[in-house]
Order: sequence, then structure tokens, then C-alpha cells
Amino acid sequence: MRKPDIFDEIIQCLKTGEKTGADTSMNEETLRVFFNPIPPKAAARPQAQAAAPAQDIQGVPPAYAPDMPEWESLRTECAACMKCGLGRTRTNMVFADGNPHAELMFIGEGPGADEDATGVPFVGRAGELLSRMIAAMTFDRKTETCIANIVKCRPPGNRNPADDEAAACMPYLKRQIAMVNPKVIVLLGAVPLLYLFNLKGIMRLRGHWLDYNGIPVMPTYHPAFLLRNPPAKKDAWADLQAVMAVFGRKPAPRR
Ligand code: URA
Repeated sequence: MRKPDIFDEIIQCLKTGEKTGADTSMNEETLRVFFNPIPPKAAARPQAQAAAPAQDIQGVPPAYAPDMPEWESLRTECAACMKCGLGRTRTNMVFADGNPHAELMFIGEGPGADEDATGVPFVGRAGELLSRMIAAMTFDRKTETCIANIVKCRPPGNRNPADDEAAACMPYLKRQIAMVNPKVIVLLGAVPLLYLFNLKGIMRLRGHWLDYNGIPVMPTYHPAFLLRNPPAKKDAWADLQAVMAVFGRKPAPRR
């Protein structure tokens, strides 16, 4: 049985706050501690389109976008990709999860065994934690976020993607980011920081806003790292609260 953590606590506060109508606004101290001096410029973004249905349709792949044909043709292109060695060893190409019209995008490293088996990103233990992080942020994973990875095929043995694998796959991710055009991107861990920004040092850079083609980007810890280092969840939660503030979402007060 998993021990409850800060995200369970926040989700519980959100639930009880909903029931009691408690004020969930952030106090001055929280604002001071959690925000960087330079707030991100929210990118100019066309009006968000209608959210995808909350329920998965049986047999339909995740992040299916009948109203975004370019998304579906990119999916088809990626499914046939053999640009690097990972194409030979994958079970499934893992394209994305959630809603390609979402304003909040998460970018991870690459599929693990569970993701390779299902074709859906972040469905294993780290994915379960990511889902709770998203719920604590008051977002719905399926309809209000879009989740993708640096590489779309599983690196054997859960190793990090190699440079040539990331280089082969990045053009696909860049096209996905351009199509989603999110208001904010959250980078999960060192791998997306390296391949999107050529930066090393997630410990130092987490919590600091970056800019990707006008889109504010918040690097934070990877959920798999948080599973191994539970005390770091507090820092990750601070990073996520800075993201929530861009959307005017308020965390539940912790009791
Ligand atoms: N870790 C990642 O970075 N991505 C996944 O999809 C699963 C685990």
C-alpha cells in the first residue's frame, strides 16, 4: 500500500474545500515564496477549442483529434517511423495522451515498459504520480492537458534516450508543440531540459521559467525521481503552483 503524499493531501483538501466551500486562495506569503521575480509572458494563443470528451472512446487511441487532421497524420507518420534503432524494438509507438487542444502540456523522457505495452505515455507508477500531480493542480488529465515525450519509442531497459535517438525524434515533438500551442509547458526532468534547451542541471534550473518560442516553460522533477526522493515532492509542488498561477488556478490551503 502506497503512503499518502503531498499530492494526496492537496487532492483531499480540494475535495473537502469543494464540499465546505472553503476559501482556497493563496496567501501573500505563498505568492512571495513560490513565484519567480519575472513572471512569464503568456503566449498569444488563439481561443482554445472545445475539450475532447472526458471518456476514452473504446478502441480510439489517446489524444485522438478528429478535428485536427494534421495531428492524426503526424501520428500515422510516427507509427511508421524507423529513423532510429528504437523503431526495431518497440511494441507500440507512444504518441501522446490527453487533448491536443489543451493549454497545458507536459513533456517527459520516453516510454517505459507499461507505455510500450499500451501506447499511452505515463501509465506506469510514475504516470500514476503524474496523474495525481495534475489533479492537485486542479486540471483534468484527459481533457485539459496534453502529454508527450522526447522520444516516442521505448529505450530498451528504461535507459535514457541516446543523442541520436532524441535527434531523430525531436522534429516530431516540435511539430506537436506547434500544433498544441500550449499556454504553458512543464518539463519533467533532465532529459527534456537537455533536448529542448541544451541545458543540464535540473536541480538548479527547476522552478525557473524558460521560454520556448514564446511559450513559458517550467522545468520540474520527473515523477520517477519523486518516487525515489519523496522529500523533493515539496519543491515540485512549488513549481506546479507557479504554473497554476499563470492559469489563475488556486491550490487548496493545506491544513
Ligand atoms: N516516463 C516518461 O518520461 N515518459 C513516460 O511516458 C513514462 C515514464
